[in-house]
Amino acid sequence: MDSLVLCLFVILLAAVGHASDAEDVPWSQNYVILYGQEHTQLLNQGKEIQISMDQSSGSGFRSLKTYGSGFFGMRIKLPNKDTTGIITSFYVIRQQYLLQTNVFTNGQGLREQRISLWFDPTTYFHNYQILWNQHQVVWFVDDTPIRVFKNNKKIGVGYPAQSMQIEATIWNGSWAGEPNWSQAPFQAHYQGFGIDGCLAQNHTIGFSDCSSPTFSWNGVN
Ligand SMILES: *[C@@H]1O[C@H](CO)[C@@H](O)[C@H](O)[C@H]1NC(C)=O
Ligand SMILES: *[C@@H]1O[C@H](CO)[C@@H](O)[C@H](O)[C@H]1NC(C)=O
Ligand SMILES: *[C@@H]1O[C@H](CO)[C@@H](O)[C@H](O)[C@H]1NC(C)=O
Repeated sequence: MDSLVLCLFVILLAAVGHASDAEDVPWSQNYVILYGQEHTQLLNQGKEIQISMDQSSGSGFRSLKTYGSGFFGMRIKLPNKDTTGIITSFYVIRQQYLLQTNVFTNGQGLREQRISLWFDPTTYFHNYQILWNQHQVVWFVDDTPIRVFKNNKKIGVGYPAQSMQIEATIWNGSWAGEPNWSQAPFQAHYQGFGIDGCLAQNHTIGFSDCSSPTFSWNGVN
């Protein structure tokens, strides 16, 4: 049953200057706090959220709803500090499994990939997107595709076909080094909370209803 992939993505380093295609809707329309409520703050009439991390806690948020395909994105500005050990992320995930920059199958990471950005992600907002349909997963930074993961299920490669939620978090991972806590709080900013996705009614329906060509993002193959 749950033999396929869990989760898709993470931007470790992130960030862009112009608007995403997603509507500029208030954060609360599509998202809820995941953890660390006291480390979050809504800004700009609720159209921006700051999530932060210090020695006591990180924080994060997730989509209210669950999706079976979509073209998801946010504008993100990373903490302007020495962020050794601090991971700012945006990803799509199936329940409770934490990820890295990997696509995971059966809990094992395939193909680790770190993203080298061509700009300073801490200065301005940049646009990070994940296209996920039955053909492929494509990660974009400022509209530039930076990574493609094709659906090769036919030849036995696991592919994420379960419904997913969108999450964004700031946290510390031991593999990323020991944070310099004297620089805390580490603050990341997110904007762009419209969601272009196919709503999954169930957590298990996979692509059965969400691969319809009536969804624009399913035409990409
Ligand atoms: C994250 O930081 C906390 C201290 O706030 C520490 O207890 C915890 O072990 C750290 N986690 C990792 C994975 O380093
Ligand atoms: C930690 O940051 C402080 C400034 O906030 C700096 O003085 C110190 O050298 C840093 N420590 C390390 C190990 O980089
Ligand atoms: C949700 O799953 C149930 C079975 O668990 C099924 O009967 C129902 O049709 C599904 N709903 C949708 C919208 O797929």
